[in-house]
Amino acid sequence: MNSERKFSSKLGFVLASVGSAVGLGNIWMFPYRVGAYGGAVFIMIYLVFIGIFASMGLSGEFMLGRLTGTGPIGAYEKALLSRGKKGGQFVGWIPLVGSLAIAIGYAVIIGWVASYTAGSVTGSLFKVGGEAYFAKLTGTNFSSVPWNAIVIGITLVALIFGVNNGVEKASKIMMPAFFVFFLIIAIRVAFLPGAIEGYKYLLIPDWSYLLNPKTWAMAMGQAFFTLSITGSGMVIYGSYLKKDENIVKLSLTTGLLDTVASFVSAFAIIPAVFAFGMKPNAGPPLMFMTMPKIFEQMPLTGLFSTVFFVSVLFAGITSLINMLEAVTEACESRVKLNRKVSSIIACGLALLVGLFIEKEANLGAWMDAVTIYLTPFGAFLGAVFIYWILDKKQMENEMNLGREKALPNWFFNVAKYVYVPAALIVVVVNVVFVAFGLGSIS
Ligand code: PHE
Repeated sequence: MNSERKFSSKLGFVLASVGSAVGLGNIWMFPYRVGAYGGAVFIMIYLVFIGIFASMGLSGEFMLGRLTGTGPIGAYEKALLSRGKKGGQFVGWIPLVGSLAIAIGYAVIIGWVASYTAGSVTGSLFKVGGEAYFAKLTGTNFSSVPWNAIVIGITLVALIFGVNNGVEKASKIMMPAFFVFFLIIAIRVAFLPGAIEGYKYLLIPDWSYLLNPKTWAMAMGQAFFTLSITGSGMVIYGSYLKKDENIVKLSLTTGLLDTVASFVSAFAIIPAVFAFGMKPNAGPPLMFMTMPKIFEQMPLTGLFSTVFFVSVLFAGITSLINMLEAVTEACESRVKLNRKVSSIIACGLALLVGLFIEKEANLGAWMDAVTIYLTPFGAFLGAVFIYWILDKKQMENEMNLGREKALPNWFFNVAKYVYVPAALIVVVVNVVFVAFGLGSIS
């Protein structure tokens, strides 16, 4: 059913993949982590992980999708069948549920972003200030539900319109807009007196972090999460990639653009934080409390705040589209429902479950459970199925399609013996870190 469904061009594919990759991880995690773990030292280590994870992890997922022409359930089934064994589809359920679960929580947070966008436009955000606005939005019953519904509604429209007219088109509009808007903010912020302290935080290397295992763990978890490696969403985008495209090259392009997005975010946010004498932080406090305080003190408060939150909204929706595309395609290919009904089921599920976790405390617990345990585990399963289980000849052939020169043997060895263990390490380190109260890495 889906074999004829393809992204129309390289650009369309890359922007959809970048759309998935660029999200909250780039905006509210990367900027803080860079400074907190050694500045330029963190950046160097991070780039190494991005190189490995993009060229081997991301391309592996794209390859699996393109080879099998479907999402995780069918892809894992076929991977195991290539070894003459049945039952892979049961494993494929795990990353698929991971996609749905992360979408549920993500949509609630992006709903908050939508509310902040509206609050920036109308000025109501600045009447009460970020803290009170956030408390009301996330602390009273169902007050964020309409926003959650709006965000899921937009995602639904993109999904119903299909891969070319919905997913691809949305990414082609939202991703360039994200880059341009954040660049404008970064340039504006550079002129704030005191911004220099922010650049120092981001760029001056603190070598004492180089041999600290926590630096490596944080850089690794960051690279993994930001590339959307979950064994599910990127598999399905890969299934819409034409056979004559060079997968490794497109994966590296995606990794590069995602990294650019992280840097632009860091330069838009951190220097402003320092210019106004605030403490750098991460996650919801940064986005929903610190940032409004910054805009409040800048001229053109409403304008910059709107531009900022609209960009975050775009980054979030394109990630959400990817997560829910995985669920939609599963309904289409496994249950044989049409696209419209499938999209409605995927989005409806996300909205329904979201009702129960919309309060901040519940949401935090949900997202922790999903991003610390479930999605990394799904990603690890994907890595094993791609580089250890799938028939080696088939895997290598598919990876080499669209390339002038075949990939060298060492590439597949590094993937098998370095990348796959790395995916396992992400799972294990998360468990250990949480057990010892060190915070999660993804
Ligand atoms: N990469 C996205 C981010 O950095 C998160 C994401 C994970 C998106 C899994 C899709 C699938 O926020």
